[in-house]
Amino acid sequence: MASAGIEHDLSDGAQASAPPKSRTARRPRAKTGPVAVLKPSPSGDGRRTSARAATRIAISTGGGDAPGLNAVIRAAVLSAADLGWETYGIMRGLHGLLGEDEVVSLTRESVRGIGHLGGTILRTSRGNPFHWPSRQPDGTLVDVDRSDELIANFRALGLDALVTVGGDGSLAVAQRLHEKGLKVVAVPKTIDNDVSGTVTTFGFDTAVGVAVEAIDRLHTTAESHDRVMVLEVMGREAGFIALHAGAAGSADVVLIPEIPYDVEKVCEKIMARDRAGRKFSIVVVAEGAHPKGGAASVVGPSAPGQPKRVGGIADALAQEIQERTGKETRSLVLGHLQRGGVPTSYDRLLATRFGAAAVHAIHEEKWGHMVALQSPNIVTVPIVEVLKRPKRVDPSHDTVRAARATGVSFGD
Ligand code: F6P
Repeated sequence: MASAGIEHDLSDGAQASAPPKSRTARRPRAKTGPVAVLKPSPSGDGRRTSARAATRIAISTGGGDAPGLNAVIRAAVLSAADLGWETYGIMRGLHGLLGEDEVVSLTRESVRGIGHLGGTILRTSRGNPFHWPSRQPDGTLVDVDRSDELIANFRALGLDALVTVGGDGSLAVAQRLHEKGLKVVAVPKTIDNDVSGTVTTFGFDTAVGVAVEAIDRLHTTAESHDRVMVLEVMGREAGFIALHAGAAGSADVVLIPEIPYDVEKVCEKIMARDRAGRKFSIVVVAEGAHPKGGAASVVGPSAPGQPKRVGGIADALAQEIQERTGKETRSLVLGHLQRGGVPTSYDRLLATRFGAAAVHAIHEEKWGHMVALQSPNIVTVPIVEVLKRPKRVDPSHDTVRAARATGVSFGD
């Protein structure tokens, strides 16, 4: 039986003065040598044979990116190489397994020097193979279940196991693929820190650091102008970034989805400070925060099959605060700055531990499990357990109590 083949695409390995081809930008960096693209075997069955003894694992990154993804990829590739295994990268989420992008070889060489880089060399997407938008002859988009095709392609490529790195959406897909027989191990990823079963996710520490730096900078300008500054941070359903950054950055008001606010209470806090001679205030608001009895502010329609895009709360809130208090109020949205750039050392280390642990989990045949931090150890937990209850800020948690004790108002 023929095994799946690897074609060496020399175009990306071209040396010297040839102008870079546009495809190069879509590929993991290979500093030397060609990028090897994995192709299905002619027989359509890439099962392991004596001619192809090495275990082949694949890795994909899905959902919004998070600083530390490259450190996961690097650690997984190097750990697998140590075991004599081969690693392949699925490009652009799961697109590479549906013929809409490539599956490329990842070697020690191709992950050299990426551990400190933000983003993901594999690119990412939010595509769900169980609800894949498919353009119909009449131009309309219809959701199609392409999971069987994905699994067939995976096997035809001779791949043995998949490491999927993603948040709740990717984990739900991983669980369903696992139930259909695919050998899957997951790595949790989200800057929002809203995945259960793990103390934290990589990317969160970096995002909080970016937000704290913004709060520090806003303090000096707010104080100079006697202004109220409203900073909107990410956190669609969970307010961890706002809470941690607000508490660490000594914000005056922190608004999170888990504690609906009363704008009157927010203004009371600002005016109490004003009367005490503190003429400025810093309000940190999670994008998904909402008033009591109200809903989160939504920014336009979302793409088909995608979660709704929340945001715009900072601007609306700033206007309301200004009207109610008479104090000059400005707003800004920190947005994707929280997701981009260099991961902190904490995130790099956690991501490295997760990447290595994922390979270990494959070695242990922990199919349908997610690697997780349960301090001080990295453990594995069934994905199905993780999905039972999303992680949210507990309003009675000591971080919330500490914030309140140090003067933070939650507007409740
Ligand atoms: O990664 C999760 C998250 O950061 C949410 O807090 C936010 O709503 C969302 O991503 C925005 O992502 P995008 O702009 O890529 O759709």
